[in-house]
Amino acid sequence: MIILIIDSSAESQAQTVRIFEAIPPADGEVLDLKFRLASEVDFESKLDETDIVVLGPQLGEKGLAIARKISVSHSWIQILMFCSDEAYSSGLFRNAPFVGIRKVFPISCNPLDFLQELIAIHAEFKREGRAREGRLICISQSKGGVGGTTIAAALAEIASLSGKNVLIWDLDIETRDLTRSLTLAEEEAKSFASLVNGSRDISRDSLYECLVTISDNVSLLPPPDTMAECVDLVCHTDGINIAKRIIDISRVSFDYIIVDTCGRIGPATGTVFRLCDTCVLVIDDTVFGLTATDLYLHYVLNLLEEPSRLKFLLNGVTASRSLIDQIANELSPGHSLTSENWILPPVPPDTKGASWPGSGNSFYSQSGSKTKDVLTKIAGLLNLIDEKSALSQEMGDSGGLFSRLFGRR
Ligand SMILES: Nc1ncnc2c1ncn2[C@@H]1O[C@H](COP(=O)(O)OP(=O)(O)OP(=O)(O)O)[C@@H](O)[C@H]1O
Ligand SMILES: [Mg+2]
Repeated sequence: MIILIIDSSAESQAQTVRIFEAIPPADGEVLDLKFRLASEVDFESKLDETDIVVLGPQLGEKGLAIARKISVSHSWIQILMFCSDEAYSSGLFRNAPFVGIRKVFPISCNPLDFLQELIAIHAEFKREGRAREGRLICISQSKGGVGGTTIAAALAEIASLSGKNVLIWDLDIETRDLTRSLTLAEEEAKSFASLVNGSRDISRDSLYECLVTISDNVSLLPPPDTMAECVDLVCHTDGINIAKRIIDISRVSFDYIIVDTCGRIGPATGTVFRLCDTCVLVIDDTVFGLTATDLYLHYVLNLLEEPSRLKFLLNGVTASRSLIDQIANELSPGHSLTSENWILPPVPPDTKGASWPGSGNSFYSQSGSKTKDVLTKIAGLLNLIDEKSALSQEMGDSGGLFSRLFGRR
């Protein structure tokens, strides 16, 4: 959120900025605060870019006139005011609502009161789509080898092709399938180890040092490079706060965070399940696969709380709608599932697509046109792309976007 601080003198503007220094850095990063300064004579040219105006204490009554002007010309701007303790006691706040000021704070206020107001504004902005709230997509599987990594990478590529910023988080500490395709991930993996073992705090800057840039709008978070930190991340309860912090920061910077959980349920992956917007459970149609899914659902649905967030994806199967219905009928009654959980069409076996690892493409751009259509439809149903993009078949022509990640041409 861009905050414009307006006050009479440069000194007073700087003093007002200092109030924000009391906000815990973790909150500041999630709120994505950026500051601009202005005086009462030059503020108007800066309003177009502003989300929140903070009127400084030196303005006194003049602040009310400025607020009135702003609320008429830029009605979307939220206006907050600081005033001297004397002005506050004498009731300056009584006039504030009539000129569009949302809240008045005495200069000696508790910074947490101020923070609370900023959090409320940020929540409103997110609801209105004014602040970025990256969507967290958890890719899961109850059984190995069903195509979890394949689907995670394919969906990430589709989302990125429609211009969205995407973070792929490889939480598969054993196979590291996504990360192993990279040759340059070592430094980033080392950085991540230092965040997991606590030798560095997790901030936006330190997290960014752990990301591998795949393309202009795709980044990858690989697992740490040491087994101790890998195990700590996915098995230790510290993983809960680590995962939560990474998700909080990433939601501000990325439109989508796609996590390859490889199906593990532990503190960190459990946090991903709990916080995700959608959980895609990749399944096959084998007896082992379906009975494993039956067991797995007991854990997953507990974590998801809201079952409609779960979407099954039958992968690698030439399936008719009736096969999906049959599987749904087997699994749904014991877990109170509904048709909402079964909206995704099955992904067919695709021999061209199967050779995606190391090809320079993801499964999406490597596969045949029918499979591409299905994957695009799935991306649309998961809100990874808008309906217009979902109908566009041109996206497939720009394959190779992931060439650093998935191949070494
Ligand atoms: N629809 C499909 N058609 C053909 N091949 C596929 C399909 N989906 C995945 N594959 C292939 O199956 C293999 C296993 O896929 P993948 O590694 O994505 O599975 P996984 O569930 O992530 O496995 P793991 O349990 O090791 O994490 C890969 O070689 C992939 O190319
Ligand atoms: Mg995998």
